[in-house]
Amino acid sequence: MRVGYVQFAPEFGEVERNLDRVAELLTGGQADLWVLPELFATGYQFASARELEFLAEPAPGGRTTARLIALARESNSHIVAGLAEQAGKRIYNAAVLVGPSGLVARYRKVHLFYEEKHLFAPGDLPFPVADIGPAKVGLLVCYDHFFPEAARSLALQGAEVIAHPANLVMPGLAQLTMRVRAIENRAFTVTANRIGVEARTGETLRFTGLSQIVAPNGDVLAQAPQDAEEVRAVEIDPAQARDKHLTRLNDVFADRRPEFYRRLVG
Ligand code: ACM
Repeated sequence: MRVGYVQFAPEFGEVERNLDRVAELLTGGQADLWVLPELFATGYQFASARELEFLAEPAPGGRTTARLIALARESNSHIVAGLAEQAGKRIYNAAVLVGPSGLVARYRKVHLFYEEKHLFAPGDLPFPVADIGPAKVGLLVCYDHFFPEAARSLALQGAEVIAHPANLVMPGLAQLTMRVRAIENRAFTVTANRIGVEARTGETLRFTGLSQIVAPNGDVLAQAPQDAEEVRAVEIDPAQARDKHLTRLNDVFADRRPEFYRRLVG
């Protein structure tokens, strides 16, 4: 199968323009699974809760999810993308997985980063894994990369590809942690980060690019530039992620000793 990322610079508040840009960018590649950045249609740095309320949408039911489903149909692919999900009075920093027949899975960011804590409700759904045919796909959002438990919980449910929409602002960290998440879970990871700058609140956020695709052995199969758009897909074999052997005598999942971890964790 082919998996890919779309790295670009969303314009804050310009939902229609950002959706159109993604549609244009997707015509430049072919993949079974595309990953787009976190909050790709709205931008990231909301100046107030009111601004977020104005831009958040139900998912499904909002124009962003509808457009993603249309794009999945046109490109005969599945797409993972981050969006601001409105659900009653709550707004989540969410990610959706859509395919030609509609919404397949939804995730609400569990680990909120920085000012997100003042804007979004923390995730209240389990880490989701969905079978899209060629692979089982799990969803994380950005700062979740810091928490080994998040990727682990996807991998223990059978995720072969971990899709990771991101708006990273700390240079170099996720490129490292996601390689480790791939190695320790023997799963593929696809991080789609954004580029550009937002300075809407007196604070300047520089988004750090370097979207990447990592193999279960930690090899970086693709990495985008720091500061330019890139749409890139690579061929992977999800069967590699089903084999958890490190040596003939070590299966990294069978070798786990959760009875010891429970005394320390949680
Ligand atoms: C992040 O979670 N957007 C860094």
